[in-house]
Amino acid sequence: MQTVRQLDLLREAIATWRAAGDRVALVPTMGALHDGHMALVEAAKRAGGRVVVSIFVNPKQFGPSEDLAKYPRKELADSRMLAAAGVDLLWMPPVEVMYPEGFATNISVGGVSDVLDGAHRPGHFDGVATVVTKLFNQVHPDVALFGEKDWQQLAVIRRLVRDLDLDIEIQGVPTQREDDGLALSSRNAYLIPEERARAVALPRALGVAERAIAKGSDPEAALAQARETLTAAGFEVDYVALVDAETLTPIDRLDRPARLLAAARLGGTRLIDNLAVAPNDPA
Ligand code: PAF
Repeated sequence: MQTVRQLDLLREAIATWRAAGDRVALVPTMGALHDGHMALVEAAKRAGGRVVVSIFVNPKQFGPSEDLAKYPRKELADSRMLAAAGVDLLWMPPVEVMYPEGFATNISVGGVSDVLDGAHRPGHFDGVATVVTKLFNQVHPDVALFGEKDWQQLAVIRRLVRDLDLDIEIQGVPTQREDDGLALSSRNAYLIPEERARAVALPRALGVAERAIAKGSDPEAALAQARETLTAAGFEVDYVALVDAETLTPIDRLDRPARLLAAARLGGTRLIDNLAVAPNDPA
């Protein structure tokens, strides 16, 4: 695996592959890799061609009071995992390559960025859209892979790609979970053991709400019940919402692809999760 930190070298490597007729798949990450990221890598390998993984802890997507400084950084372990998985190139740009002196551009995807996490983390999805656009322009992938755990991020990126006519296939990869159901996340490392034990309430509360709504219960009652369960488990709930899976506008009936999304804080750690919701087939 080549590890590249300079844009001209990245472009050279990609140009060589392109000249040989290879396809390119990109897995953007912020490092601190876990099995969720490795599922993206496996999906990228299945897409065929060369696999590029980027690791860049993007300062533009962290708010002033968020965890940029303490975000886990594990370059050596990450690089070993990726090499063992057969990744072709690790793109690890320093911050001055991504945002050189005078950098002044902001990509903002309206609507889908403004609700849910966007409302709780102002500017977050502008930071994501800006860095992902840069990564797309640097790597020019045929396909890029993102985890469904960050469902809103995936919706923002799909909108961005459609709106800007980017010729890139966006693949969502299902959320990977611990045995007890907790979604894998680099931020789970912040949980102390007692919080980790309580964190399972998040996927469980979502599962209960999802089954109730799928069976025809009133969504508002199911969402209220999920909020109560989470509060009782010690979470501070940012939101639990049933939304149109693509636009993320709130819905109160299952007349289109729907998603149940939640964000809640346990101690200093903010966790997010989501599930698809479809009406149960009548027996
Ligand atoms: O999902 C992430 O790890 C990040 O938001 C991404 C897509 C790599 C952009 O920094």
